[in-house]
Amino acid sequence: MTATTLSRPGASASTASTPADAATDASGAPAAAARAARPRRYLMCRPTHFEVSYAINPWMDPAEPVDTGLAVAQWERLYRLFRELGHRVDLIDPLPGLPDMVYAANGATVVDGRVLGARFRNAERAAEGPAYLEWFRARGFATHDPAHVNEGEGDILLTGRYLLAGRGFRSVSAGHAEAQEFLGRPVIGLDLVDPRFYHLDTALSVLDGEEIMYYPGAFSAGSRRVLQQLFPDAVLVDEADAEAFGLNVVSDGLHVIHPEPATGVAARLRERGFRPIAMDLSELLKGGGSVKCCTLEIRE
Ligand code: ARG
Repeated sequence: MTATTLSRPGASASTASTPADAATDASGAPAAAARAARPRRYLMCRPTHFEVSYAINPWMDPAEPVDTGLAVAQWERLYRLFRELGHRVDLIDPLPGLPDMVYAANGATVVDGRVLGARFRNAERAAEGPAYLEWFRARGFATHDPAHVNEGEGDILLTGRYLLAGRGFRSVSAGHAEAQEFLGRPVIGLDLVDPRFYHLDTALSVLDGEEIMYYPGAFSAGSRRVLQQLFPDAVLVDEADAEAFGLNVVSDGLHVIHPEPATGVAARLRERGFRPIAMDLSELLKGGGSVKCCTLEIRE
């Protein structure tokens, strides 16, 4: 696998030299020079039909007006940024009547070119599962139509070694077992306990390999101990940053795209040698999602 170092859009590679370019920082974590972006392939869905017409998480309020045009404009900036960073982005056609389809992370989980379809807990989103699965089937991927609830990468996140799988609000243990069997990676089940952080990708993010960050308060006591054992060097994020959706990020190994209000997360990432890039996705936050929710990684 070739690792390519990409520069921030608008910045030339030669401007990358900063004091953080030493091989390691004070904590021993690799600094900027040791980090490399790996080109990724993503699937996204334009929020053409985005609205908040029902409430299935505490962030959604159908009484609050949504500016669909602004949502599209904000989403377009994210779509453009990924391509400027050298990533390939495929698009799936948005379907009328499925306003949450913009949250592509929920559409599937793709590992080694194998596509575990999603099965949604809520009837409002049920038709999204088959729509995403068909997109992959039509392109020749090996697919599995799940029997149990799993909400794709919203709840199933791949580290170098494990599938971290959330449950408690949406995905269920039987869905985790199905993911382990079809994708052939060991599943670590994690219990989510705070309804604000109803999907794993609102409470935890994978930065690179076994490097993760999470908000401990989103997890049960036992799950916190599991995370401590497996990821003793994790970045621990506070409640304010978690509430700003600061864990709903996309990392390519160097650049970490994060919601603009999560400034504390950006500072922590910079200390670790990552390059945080802020994005304003305020309209999409009204549906309870941000950067990661809008992005499904296709791992071939
Ligand atoms: N309104 C959507 C839901 O509640 C938001 C999904 C956000 N996606 C995510 N990957 N967390 O299902």
